[in-house]
Amino acid sequence: MTAPGRYDLYNGNRLKLGLFGANCSSGRAATMVPERWSGSWEENLAVAQLADEAGIDFMLPIGRWRGYGGATNFEGASLETITWATGLLAQTKRMSIFGTVHAPMYHPIVAAKQFVTADLVGRGRFGLNLVCGWNQDEFTMFGVQQREHDLRYAYGTDWLSIVMKLWTQSEPFDLQSEYFDVRGVVGEPKPYGGVRPMVMNAGASPVGREFGITNCDLLFIPLHDVAVGAQDVAAAEARGRELGKRIRVCANGFIVCRPTQHEAEEYLQYYSQDHADWEAVDHLMTLNGFYSRSHTPEHFVQYRNRWAAGHGGYPVVGDPDTVARELIRIAEAGFFGFCFSFVNYLEELPFFRDEVLPRLVAAGVRADIEEN
Ligand SMILES: Cc1cc2nc3c(=O)[nH]c(=O)nc-3n(C[C@H](O)[C@H](O)[C@H](O)COP(=O)(O)O)c2cc1C
Repeated sequence: MTAPGRYDLYNGNRLKLGLFGANCSSGRAATMVPERWSGSWEENLAVAQLADEAGIDFMLPIGRWRGYGGATNFEGASLETITWATGLLAQTKRMSIFGTVHAPMYHPIVAAKQFVTADLVGRGRFGLNLVCGWNQDEFTMFGVQQREHDLRYAYGTDWLSIVMKLWTQSEPFDLQSEYFDVRGVVGEPKPYGGVRPMVMNAGASPVGREFGITNCDLLFIPLHDVAVGAQDVAAAEARGRELGKRIRVCANGFIVCRPTQHEAEEYLQYYSQDHADWEAVDHLMTLNGFYSRSHTPEHFVQYRNRWAAGHGGYPVVGDPDTVARELIRIAEAGFFGFCFSFVNYLEELPFFRDEVLPRLVAAGVRADIEEN
């Protein structure tokens, strides 16, 4: 058997685990509690090194250009993700680290070279999260009016094809399309080991999902119910097979893990209900409902608490047995990976590492770090 490669994050873990959103102030929790995440470089570096040692498989940042307001200006301070990833790749050994870009805001020739540089620094551990756009608030700041929803993905297809060619082709190439007129395009060096970085997309609308399955290696889909999630994974994988490729499907959420179920639920109530930054939550939900097609209007009413607790992601809350059981369920539903936030990544990761990871190893969902 060949050793797991780049798109398997160089390990045999059945369920990959990633930390999500640590580059932003408050991470993914719109809360006013004083221990909320600072998003500082020092804390990012510390948590990345802790996660790397613990065997966490990847880190996924959020490409964010302005905050969501409220008392905390939720996610108002964020580290730029490609430079963030490059700095972390230089100081970690094992895990993969993504950079997130909004295609309409970066020229693909500049972007492709940034990605290669990050990838060489990380010796093949850089991954790209390609966002085709949703949040007009941010685009307005750049003076960019977004295209009509589905055309964003047509633009993204051309954008990514330029990046892919720069990564893989030595001969100069041209691309003339509705969106680009680039000629004699060349780019050296190539990605680490001559293998291109993995690419992910998280568009959840039908056209976004089709874009992700067709053009990317990893597709993130919304998860609200594990049984429904299993059907979504199967459908996406089947569509991938129709296109002659393997698509790896991931989900995102948040984890609150405490010694007892009661303590976990109490903490969830404390940070995401009693001390939520509701103004920020409502603003975020309004923008998301207006500009993205990922969720139905009913979703925002039903899951307002999840938007406070973890940006609308899937809740994994409880004692170590419960948290492990839930992650095993997600693995059994066919998900390739799960990325998640904590309120304070640095304070909460050690307990998760010591209590949950060994349970996942015992269940055969992950390998012991020494065996990877
Ligand atoms: C795991 C995940 C990561 C995402 N990362 C970002 C991001 O960093 N920046 C951003 O603006 N949008 C991000 N998004 C939003 C999506 O990329 C996508 O643009 C949005 O869901 C709207 O697409 P749709 O209308 O096609 O569903 C992310 C979504 C998910 C689920």
